[in-house]
Amino acid sequence: LENGLARTPPMGFNNWNTTQCRAEFDEAMIKGIADIFVSQGLKDAGYTYVNIDDCWALPTRNARGDLQPDPKRFPGGIKALADYVHSKGLKFGIYTSAGTKTCNTAGFPGGLGHEQQDANLFASWGVDYLKYDNCNNQGVDARKRYTAMRDALAKTGRPIVYSICEWGRTDPKVWTWGEPVGNLWRTTGDISDNWTSMIGKAKANRVLARYAGPGHWNDPDMLEVGNGGMTATEYRTHFSLWAMMAAPLLIGADLRKAGAETLAILKNTDVIALDQDPLGKQATVVSSDGGLVVYNKVLANGDRAVALSNENTSTATIATTASALGIGGAPSYELKDLWSKVTRTTTGAISASVPAHGTVVYRVSKRAGGPVTRFEAEAGTMSG
Ligand code: DGJ
Repeated sequence: LENGLARTPPMGFNNWNTTQCRAEFDEAMIKGIADIFVSQGLKDAGYTYVNIDDCWALPTRNARGDLQPDPKRFPGGIKALADYVHSKGLKFGIYTSAGTKTCNTAGFPGGLGHEQQDANLFASWGVDYLKYDNCNNQGVDARKRYTAMRDALAKTGRPIVYSICEWGRTDPKVWTWGEPVGNLWRTTGDISDNWTSMIGKAKANRVLARYAGPGHWNDPDMLEVGNGGMTATEYRTHFSLWAMMAAPLLIGADLRKAGAETLAILKNTDVIALDQDPLGKQATVVSSDGGLVVYNKVLANGDRAVALSNENTSTATIATTASALGIGGAPSYELKDLWSKVTRTTTGAISASVPAHGTVVYRVSKRAGGPVTRFEAEAGTMSG
């Protein structure tokens, strides 16, 4: 959607993956996350949006027909919460559904038929991001429902990132019509905090590269990094693949309980730079050989990011070449491993020994200057 927003994939937080609708989802939590964004350097790393998901509202509209915040969870109301988030130099996001009710069985009211009234209310609260879910849609055409809210948001005059949460279930698929409608669209059902779910989302999303670009992104769902159901190796794969795929980076863990390892993954600025590269090209798959997958992301300065991803359960060597990435012909290349931070030189071969469920990510740059020395050429074979 060309509304001037999301020129790079949105980065921030959403509570759903860690709290769902449990009571811990409340004002104190969301304020705490905003505080940690600032105190732990996440804001400096690029995380901006602090978003709330389903179950923030009361089950009924008020006498004017407006949505009302649940006073138990949000005693200060949503406007005050958004003001707090803004006071930290961050942005605030909210959720509702393109249906008569949201997805939670408690039956919170949805936006279908109330698009302008709800958009106006959100704008008056200072909302900067809307996630618009797909439950209880009464069989009304998805494109029509999502376009109605796009137009309502535009009429408010407030810049609001618009996230289509349709899951890619119905035909025509949302990625074929999403570009002029939303800033991002879900391409999959809900992620859960385990390897099988996460890698399934990656597989479904990685074939959709051609649909993504500045202002309009594929969304394979929010991050599970830090929620405890995967190993650190698997979480690094999750974060690496989301960055390669120019996916939104919405932290889904309760950062108030996050350890150093979680923060180190989420704050890997070299990997974040791939996600946020201004060219906005989603990685494509160069090869996928029995679960050994090579992803290639074209970057604005002509570099490539390559991810060597091992979906199998034992260590394997994964290899490609600079020519396969579309930058062949140079006398030598620099490879920076964006997790270990080790930099090496190669004449064109690119490979690594990758542990089970692991991913090695290199930033590959053509080297200026003369031919490589013998030592560099040997180091450049990079096995291991
Ligand atoms: C379905 C969405 O896909 C989830 O991300 C979450 O927003 C829930 N609905 C909330 O009910």
